[in-house]
Amino acid sequence: MVNYKDLGLVNTREMFAKAVDGGYAIPAFNFNNMEQLQAIIKACAETKSPVILQVSSGARKYANQTLLRYMAEGAVEYAKELGWEHPQICLHLDHGDTFELCKSCVDFGFSSVMIDGSSLPYEENIALTKKVVEYAHQFDVTVEAELGVLAGVEDDVVAEESHYTKPEEVIDFATRTGCDSLAISIGTSHGAYKFKPEQCTRDPKTGKLVPPPLAFDVLEEVEKKLPGFPIVLHGSSSVPQEYVDIINTHGGNLPDAVGIPEDQLRKAAKSAVCKINIDSDSRLAFTAAVRKVLAEKPGEFDPRKYCGPARDEMTKLYKHKIIEVLGSDGKAE
Ligand code: G3H
Ligand code: 13P
Ligand code: ZN
Repeated sequence: MVNYKDLGLVNTREMFAKAVDGGYAIPAFNFNNMEQLQAIIKACAETKSPVILQVSSGARKYANQTLLRYMAEGAVEYAKELGWEHPQICLHLDHGDTFELCKSCVDFGFSSVMIDGSSLPYEENIALTKKVVEYAHQFDVTVEAELGVLAGVEDDVVAEESHYTKPEEVIDFATRTGCDSLAISIGTSHGAYKFKPEQCTRDPKTGKLVPPPLAFDVLEEVEKKLPGFPIVLHGSSSVPQEYVDIINTHGGNLPDAVGIPEDQLRKAAKSAVCKINIDSDSRLAFTAAVRKVLAEKPGEFDPRKYCGPARDEMTKLYKHKIIEVLGSDGKAE
């Protein structure tokens, strides 16, 4: 049994309370490799932003769970080395799908876990979430739950359509499960293809897709039912068109990739939404930078020469999200 407090990590309780009060959101960035983690920590140390480092089941399979956990421990020390005196870093399991997986993360030094029972019938979601909460809370590990279904890929779960969270269920769900935060469905979705072209309109000048707005009415209803309760948005990448264009002009093929416009996320961050999940944008930044270097310098074969620029591009992206979208800069001095 490893307790996250011994690793210098924090759970989400205090971060979320401050974010709800302050009208900003905590960035939740997924990581799978060293370059992503370095970029996240550098961006957060330079902006003094609290951060949630997310590990998905896919990341555990790709990078090895032991290595990832030690990397997160190393991240705390790296942050201090960069001059961040009091790093506020949470290590979080993203989309945990079983009690056993959540338990193993709690036992292994994670400070927060998500149990995603959103694809289960309502009562089964409650029973599973409650079981995880009861276990995790013994060790002061916080638990995120999910109600409502996002369209797109959630690890091995693929949902064709989204089902918005029903505001009339949230009080019952939060009370009976004891969860610390709640991910809701208001129209965001995972990946770089969040909307089908037929769901969008087209900007007549650029020909680019303009996605439909998020269901802020559902968010407002949820806020009214659970005042001050931390709400989470998954699938919140914006799919920056400059990265899509670089990828497409350097040998890639991402037709009609579209994300959530940043003004909508800015608005959400000011509300009860206090955790915003971003993974795809970092993948796009990485891929765009790597494709550009390899296309311009076909003789290059030192990974540091293309992973280095990819890391710099991700650092830029994370800082932009923190300062210009979430407003979490300066909140963890
Ligand atoms: O919610 C999905 C996250 O972006 C993680 O994706 O399962 O491919 O690691 P992944
Ligand atoms: P994106 O695919 O929009 O980056 O969403 C990531 C996410 O929700 C991770 O849980
Ligand atoms: Zn997600």
